[in-house]
Amino acid sequence: MIDLHCHILWDIDDGPSDFDGSMAMARLAAADGTRQLVATPHVQDMLHSPELIAEKVARLNQALRDAEIDLEILSGGDNLYNLGVENLARYSINGTRYVLVEFPHTHLPAQAGDTLFAALNHGLVPIITHPERNPSIVQNPKLLFELVENGALVQLTADSLTGGFGPAAKACARYLLKKKMVHFLASDGHSSKHRPPTMSAGFKAASKIVGKDAARMLVFDNPAKVVQGIEL
Ligand SMILES: [Fe+2]
Repeated sequence: MIDLHCHILWDIDDGPSDFDGSMAMARLAAADGTRQLVATPHVQDMLHSPELIAEKVARLNQALRDAEIDLEILSGGDNLYNLGVENLARYSINGTRYVLVEFPHTHLPAQAGDTLFAALNHGLVPIITHPERNPSIVQNPKLLFELVENGALVQLTADSLTGGFGPAAKACARYLLKKKMVHFLASDGHSSKHRPPTMSAGFKAASKIVGKDAARMLVFDNPAKVVQGIEL
């Protein structure tokens, strides 16, 4: 599997505090069947230097090769929606046109559509992270449909499908899947203990809802195109 959203880098956001924590997450992800994983530290008020992200990714990859762990880390960012297009482009996934875009956890801002259109007009492809955990979208999923019809893509948190984020997120995740409004599952992992970087349980749950072939698209085919910069 390929995980497009994971807070695996140490000492940069609310992910692991030290390098050993990153390695523990990497071991878990590899054991769960993930082969490529995009390191996506939060980019909000604090604009980390992309060079710092690249350095940490390189160091982690070296350690994974040394330990013969079959996992490759790529660079990216978990970007707050209102960073502006120039900043979004600096934290794209593996240097492609694809960018993660996160909305506040409390509501869908009135400017959500405008910020996504600005990104699309700039040649970027915004991927909306975990809409099933956004109260405005849980209440009115049509808000999300409009954004998707205009060109945005959608990533569910894999554990939402198994109830890890509560019954409302689970119901919304299942509804969005059935409506074919989902392009990716990702772990949004933060640690090896509380929010592990795993997706196999979500993949299994998705297979039961939409069938194995459609579920495979969410964790293999579609994310593979993203990391290679190929159009979906
Ligand atoms: Fe995240």
